[in-house]
Amino acid sequence: RSWRAHHSAPLQLNSVTEQDLAHFAKILPPSAILSTLPPSSLSSEDLDQYNSDWMRKYRGTSTTVLKPKTTEQVSEIVKWCNERRIGIVPQGGNTGLVGGSVPIRDEVILSLSNMSKVRSFDSVSGILVADAGCILQSLTDYIAPHNHIMPIDLGAKGSCQIGGNVATNAGGLRLLRYGSLHGTVLGLEVVLPDGTILDQLTTLRKDNTGYDLKQLFIGAEGTLGIITGVSILTPPAPQASNNVILALPSFKNVLPLYEIVKRQLSEILSAFEYIDRASYDLAVKHGQGRALSDEDVEGAECFVLVETSGGRREHDEEKLADLLESLLEAEEPLINTGVLSQSPAQFSSLWALREGVTEAVSKEGKPYKYDISVPLSSFQDVVDGTREHLKSRGLLGDHAVKYVVGYGHVGDGNLHLNVVAKSYTPEIQAALEPYVYEVVASHRGSISAEHGVGAMKTHALHYSKSDVSIAWMKKIKEIFDPRGIMNPGKVLE
Ligand code: FAD
Ligand code: MLT
Ligand code: ZN
Repeated sequence: RSWRAHHSAPLQLNSVTEQDLAHFAKILPPSAILSTLPPSSLSSEDLDQYNSDWMRKYRGTSTTVLKPKTTEQVSEIVKWCNERRIGIVPQGGNTGLVGGSVPIRDEVILSLSNMSKVRSFDSVSGILVADAGCILQSLTDYIAPHNHIMPIDLGAKGSCQIGGNVATNAGGLRLLRYGSLHGTVLGLEVVLPDGTILDQLTTLRKDNTGYDLKQLFIGAEGTLGIITGVSILTPPAPQASNNVILALPSFKNVLPLYEIVKRQLSEILSAFEYIDRASYDLAVKHGQGRALSDEDVEGAECFVLVETSGGRREHDEEKLADLLESLLEAEEPLINTGVLSQSPAQFSSLWALREGVTEAVSKEGKPYKYDISVPLSSFQDVVDGTREHLKSRGLLGDHAVKYVVGYGHVGDGNLHLNVVAKSYTPEIQAALEPYVYEVVASHRGSISAEHGVGAMKTHALHYSKSDVSIAWMKKIKEIFDPRGIMNPGKVLE
């Protein structure tokens, strides 16, 4: 059996055998090995949750899931797999949206979920050191009593792991305020593809001693090694947070609104998120957050969620109220109305309308998800253009594509273009690709702003990266993983 890995020459990868299982049994207790091979007695359905991704769009056929508890166990497993040339898929919370967290074929799945201990937290510096398998929400809860928050937040916080966040360089809802994980991650512990443990788990803010190797693993999607520990800088919790949903009559008002909001709220602006009308309607339809009143949504083409986080409640509330007043009283108002949260419950409910779009589109149908960076001014054109394109191919309607929606992180220039279909079909796929990627390339944008490449976009990398960049990525892969065992078929073809 052969599998073309990341090299020009095909590589042989081996399937797990009963002998391999016997070896894993020397490293791990029985409860940490899930396998359909004898002497285990599980069925393939028992492994379905590991073999299928969150959208149930990608599916592997792994026979074996390993759940180590320590870095040493990870190292021993990886060493064995490298010698035996068995492919490994590192898996965190399995919430990734590009098919990176499930096998292409029957690679071993190495789940980090048993590595879930906080190693240390320093409440003065705010530096948290944790096992890679810690769930993001549990880290948030752990540091909350110390008045710190995680620098990253996203809709999948209840199941995604910090290791998965780092491996995908996830962006999310706080990037506008706290920047990317390339800045907030201070150190990593990584098991390299030959089993060596690379200990760069430092807690230093400053360290200019040569190449910053850890950066390579941030966003490598498990193709260069397995992240086992993360050291991350957590900011102090804001004393006050507030949010407001603004209803806009037209998309063309978003940009001027963003400029005004940035200027007026300045240092307290912490999020500026966008949902178009179709996204809002789907979120409401599928019970994400509480619907705004009919009056508030009347005539709204899209919505913007603005969050403030600052040091003094009265000061922040006054600033937000002033902003709203000036927006509503302007000669030609950019907004129809604004709904300000009045309680913690309302605050969460307004956020749910935005965060819940992902879940809503998945409940509505089968989403084709395009996570792109394009100039802000073209967001609406990209969404409308895609809808028109599908219509011209006779693919718009209940029989094929039900909705084309746009939402995302305006402040980061990141649009989520989602095409919600009745089912995944070759016709829709062919209509969307390379169409969407060509549109992105025409704007010199990115085909993956924050979700990564996974298995979904390996063939499309050249729309965002030059041949020279891709060639150097391949060289780096070759140096770290010459036997091509680490998450084969992901990121690079
Ligand atoms: P997985 O899905 O398990 O894995 C993702 C990739 O990382 C895979 O390639 C896997 O092999 C690799 N990996 C996982 N753990 C490790 C490890 N320890 N070492 C090495 N490689 C590893 N993404 C955003 O950027 N912004 C968002 O706002 C956002 N919102 C989301 C909302 C929802 C509801 C959902 C379902 C997803 C969302 N995502 C978002 C996608 C996002 O990539 C993930 O949610 C998250 O970062 C992945 O973490 P995970 O632990 O689930 O990783
Ligand atoms: C989001 O911003 O909601 C996430 O990236 C998930 C998605 O794109 O649906
Ligand atoms: Zn996003």
